[in-house]
Amino acid sequence: MNPTEVTAKLPPLLKVEGLLRRFGGLVAVNKVSFEVGPGEIVGLIGPNGAGKTTLFNIISGHLEADEGRIEFDGSDMTHARAPRWAKAGVGRTFQIVKPLTSLTVLENVMVGALLKNKPAQARKQAAAIVERVGMGPLMDRLAGSLTLESRKRLELARALSVQPRLLLLDEILAGLNPSEIEESIHLIRSFARADGLAVIMIEHNLHAVMSLADRVVVLDYGVKIAEDLPKVVVQDPKVIAAYLGSDDE
Ligand SMILES: Nc1ncnc2c1ncn2[C@@H]1O[C@H](COP(=O)(O)OP(=O)(O)O)[C@@H](O)[C@H]1O
Ligand SMILES: [Mg+2]
Repeated sequence: MNPTEVTAKLPPLLKVEGLLRRFGGLVAVNKVSFEVGPGEIVGLIGPNGAGKTTLFNIISGHLEADEGRIEFDGSDMTHARAPRWAKAGVGRTFQIVKPLTSLTVLENVMVGALLKNKPAQARKQAAAIVERVGMGPLMDRLAGSLTLESRKRLELARALSVQPRLLLLDEILAGLNPSEIEESIHLIRSFARADGLAVIMIEHNLHAVMSLADRVVVLDYGVKIAEDLPKVVVQDPKVIAAYLGSDDE
């Protein structure tokens, strides 16, 4: 039995129904519904401005939806704010990385770990996460002094610090070189396959999406225009047209 067959039998970890979010007259997310099962990797793709980050902002409590409903792990989270999402076990990275520059790498990761742990335990747990993402040697460096690649890794470590069951990754491969991308792909796969985390990854790098995702959701102008296996989605004429119609790809 492959992992997808296993997860298909479990109730969804995340269930998004009819989510809609407006900014003034613009409908950034337009009645989007989908589900994510435990341990599943879902790719979220679509041209720039399609509403991907807005969807993440809603699923992590940084923005509220105007319509629709979200359930996480069986609880109604529609009106939950960011701290409750983090406590419930949803970790996210930000497209624009924003570490606390005057804190060290370890301290940045401790901030999330302190949500559920006493300081000594939080420090131990944060150190393990820093090692896991390959930043052990940089543990005591100030976050403000890191390269872009290291800042991105730190962003991933911070997302992991809340001991998530669902990880939301917003373009974490952008700006990395090919070998850094391969390393990150390996790491993301291990979170899902070894630790059983569910992952939703917003990603323009189609090689990464094709090699990692069990399923791909495609947004265009806020609307879900496709949802299927990666190899099916990339051949879908609606998806191809959406990408060709945008001037940023
Ligand atoms: N806080 C905001 N205020 C006004 N408009 C926004 C805001 N956030 C996003 N938008 C608009 O919503 C649309 C979707 O943006 P976004 O979710 O960032 O897209 P993506 O991540 O797919 O590139 C865009 O047209 C963007 O300009
Ligand atoms: Mg975005």
